[in-house]
Amino acid sequence: MIILIGSIKGGVGKSTLATNIAAYLAVKNKDVILVDSDRQSTSSNWYYDRSNTDLPIVHGAQKYDNISTTLKDFNRRYEYVVVDCQGRDSVELRTGLIAVDICIIPCKPSQADLDTIHSMQEMLKMASSINQGLKSYCVLTICPNNPAVTEIADSIDFLKKYDDMQLLSTLIYDRKNYRDALALGRGVVEMDNDKAKHEIESLMKELAHGC
Ligand SMILES: Nc1ncnc2c1ncn2[C@@H]1O[C@H](COP(=O)(O)OP(=O)(O)OP(=O)(O)O)[C@@H](O)[C@H]1O
Ligand SMILES: [Mg+2]
Repeated sequence: MIILIGSIKGGVGKSTLATNIAAYLAVKNKDVILVDSDRQSTSSNWYYDRSNTDLPIVHGAQKYDNISTTLKDFNRRYEYVVVDCQGRDSVELRTGLIAVDICIIPCKPSQADLDTIHSMQEMLKMASSINQGLKSYCVLTICPNNPAVTEIADSIDFLKKYDDMQLLSTLIYDRKNYRDALALGRGVVEMDNDKAKHEIESLMKELAHGC
């Protein structure tokens, strides 16, 4: 099973989600490799930090340019392949989409981020014409905690209109715990904040139901 976290927008929480999904699967005793296709190396730094701990193993690899064949090869050797992409329209994102089972598109509840979803949908349509089993999900990330802010509800209304990508009902809120976990080579399921942990568990349950 190959799960790619992709978006043409930077800073939406792709690496945070990729590392948390990888850690969640490792905690569940799954054989998982995290592939970093972004030269920024956020995910690579994370699994390097993790490799110096006693935490459940997440294998790691860096692969750039055309990643399609490598992902298919990893898929034969590992139970789960989690792919982190850079935040723009890239060769890695386009070639990755041809090989993957699931694409998760993180999106912040703000107009600038929502504006990129249409282009992302066009890319997914093209990928689906080749990779017919591709399933795409959108998830709202780094959501503001202030209940007075209506951006979350407005974003849900906006994203529901896109049939090609299913909007997950799990919301990933802005929590310091996500930043701390990223810096420690951990997933939030391995930290002491129940709220963040429940968000990742809820997201993974939704994905499991959709598969
Ligand atoms: N849910 C969250 N709560 C708090 N901070 C978060 C959350 N998700 C991500 N962040 C922080 O926001 C910043 C951007 O996150 P991240 O690196 O995961 O985004 P990205 O989409 O991978 O960015 P890039 O496009 O640059 O690769 C990081 O400092 C990260 O720690
Ligand atoms: Mg990143």
